[in-house]
Amino acid sequence: MKIKAAVCREAGALAIEEVELAEPKMGEILVKMVASGVCHTDAAARNLFIPAILPMVLGHEGVGIVESVGEGVTELAPGDKVIISFPYCGECDYCREGHPYACEDSFHLFFHGKYKDGTTRITGADGTEIGSLFGQGSFATYAVCDASSAVKVDVSVDELKALCSLGCGIQTGAGAVLNRMAPRPGTSLVVFGCGAVGIAAIMAGKIAGCSTIIGVDIVPSRLELALECGATHVINGKDFDDVPAEIRRICGGKGAHFALEASGVPALGLQMLDSMRREGLAVIVSVMGDQRMNVLIENQIMSPSVTLAGIVEGGSNPKVFIPELVRYYKEGRLPVEKLAKYFKFEDFEQAFEASHDGSVIKPILLF
Ligand SMILES: NC(=O)c1ccc[n+]([C@@H]2O[C@H](COP(=O)([O-])OP(=O)(O)OC[C@H]3O[C@@H](n4cnc5c(N)ncnc54)[C@H](O)[C@@H]3O)[C@@H](O)[C@H]2O)c1
Ligand SMILES: [Zn+2]
Ligand SMILES: [Zn+2]
Repeated sequence: MKIKAAVCREAGALAIEEVELAEPKMGEILVKMVASGVCHTDAAARNLFIPAILPMVLGHEGVGIVESVGEGVTELAPGDKVIISFPYCGECDYCREGHPYACEDSFHLFFHGKYKDGTTRITGADGTEIGSLFGQGSFATYAVCDASSAVKVDVSVDELKALCSLGCGIQTGAGAVLNRMAPRPGTSLVVFGCGAVGIAAIMAGKIAGCSTIIGVDIVPSRLELALECGATHVINGKDFDDVPAEIRRICGGKGAHFALEASGVPALGLQMLDSMRREGLAVIVSVMGDQRMNVLIENQIMSPSVTLAGIVEGGSNPKVFIPELVRYYKEGRLPVEKLAKYFKFEDFEQAFEASHDGSVIKPILLF
């Protein structure tokens, strides 16, 4: 079928083209897109900060309505509302153990544009094969994805629009806290970078009952939103020479039990390590490209018995975790609508710019 899709053919460029989308194959579904979030990772792929293989339809936070299903799909049917999350092979040891975020094939399935069978689903007007980011390519009027990535949800179409980033950014931040850290009530959490991922972590810290939740950023409007979403304290990095000292002061002189790096700035990763309480758990979810973090292992990790961990997609099993997040949303405990600003599909450049300049936390394209 003919669809409209935003195709990246060279680094930095993105343009809407009319392209041909194949029918869903075995185990796949065709989704009529309702909305798609714009994640920082779309910008990273567009700029080849991540080595994506072009040409590619970007977008990986799609929500929509199932139009048709391929052979063998029984858990989804036409008319179902779905949130599309990340792809995974389903067959490696990690997938079989219920840890699809750690799938051996994830880098390939996320960034090389191909589906599990090694082929693409989109053909350009000039006959070129076009890949789909995250086996999804949600910046398009329709997309094909694997049924294992799509989660059926019982919400209105308006709610569905606000929930697109549950598929990636919100799941990443909330999952890092609820799945990886699993903080006990009364513990402290510090979050570096109050974008969609960081704010989701702050909301999750509140859900988990953390009694001290500190948001660090340099954009005042993001710090205000962090306070609205559950932070008990915020720190503007521009106002302090020694951010870790301020964090330790807030945390009763000892430092934080848990911390998340969601800014993508290596220097903040190091500040995070200096902010930890002994035996603390520091988690990195941000993309830092080929930049390095110059960790002083003995002082920052070994001697204080600190754990430094990384995790993809919040350590989530989307079929289990996304329904849990939708439940929190319905209870008013995950107010993701506060992060959203809507743009028409054709205004995607404005959406990217609004994310880049910090004025909008979660730009959402509507189809
Ligand atoms: N691990 C995963 O599976 C996964 C999934 C989604 C996103 N990500 C990554 O997570 C990161 C966060 O994503 P996002 O969508 O929230 O991005 P974002 O750009 O909206 O958020 C980053 C925040 O960091 C802040 N920041 C930048 N420099 C700073 C500094 N020097 N001091 C303090 N704050 C600073 C920015 O103001 C911004 O609020 C990105 O790197 C993204 O690529 C990872
Ligand atoms: Zn796998
Ligand atoms: Zn993402």
